Amino acid sequence: MSETLTIPSGTKEEIYSGLLPQIESLIAETDDLIANLANIAAVLKQVFSFHWVGFYRTTKPGLLMLGPFQGPLACVSIPFDKGVCGHAARTRESVIVPNVEEFPGHIACSSLSRSEIVVPLVSENETQLVLDIDSIDLSAFDSVDRVWLERIVGVIAKRHFPSPA
Ligand code: SME
Repeated sequence: MSETLTIPSGTKEEIYSGLLPQIESLIAETDDLIANLANIAAVLKQVFSFHWVGFYRTTKPGLLMLGPFQGPLACVSIPFDKGVCGHAARTRESVIVPNVEEFPGHIACSSLSRSEIVVPLVSENETQLVLDIDSIDLSAFDSVDRVWLERIVGVIAKRHFPSPA
């Protein structure tokens, strides 16, 4: 995909399914992780109009640092023992939060965010980064989002964190 995006239509699943190969070919064009994360955040924001879409990278053991994102100003760093992002990074599992007010320790970067999903990229047994998406609607994310966002993160893993042979 040379900087053009065909926005798929249909169900959420059909939209994700139409996006995945486009994301795969988009990130095949450069080796630069930051550039690729920036464009993936842009694609997801444009297609789904999420409130906030972005990445936090593990830049020191136990610490997530803000990476490319689309949306309002965000918290710069998140320790692994804080917030939804920290929880996903620490447990190395995706987290869906239907109501952020009910998640103990949720970090409110924007008072408009009401639900959230965080998907970690785990390589060599370490969380390398997380994809974080916030919605202004309650219960905006379900298992369809989890499955497809994990596939998108899997494409990033394959491209930028290949397992040693
Ligand atoms: N809500 C997140 C913090 C990041 S922002 O949503 C962009 C959390 O609790 O980890």
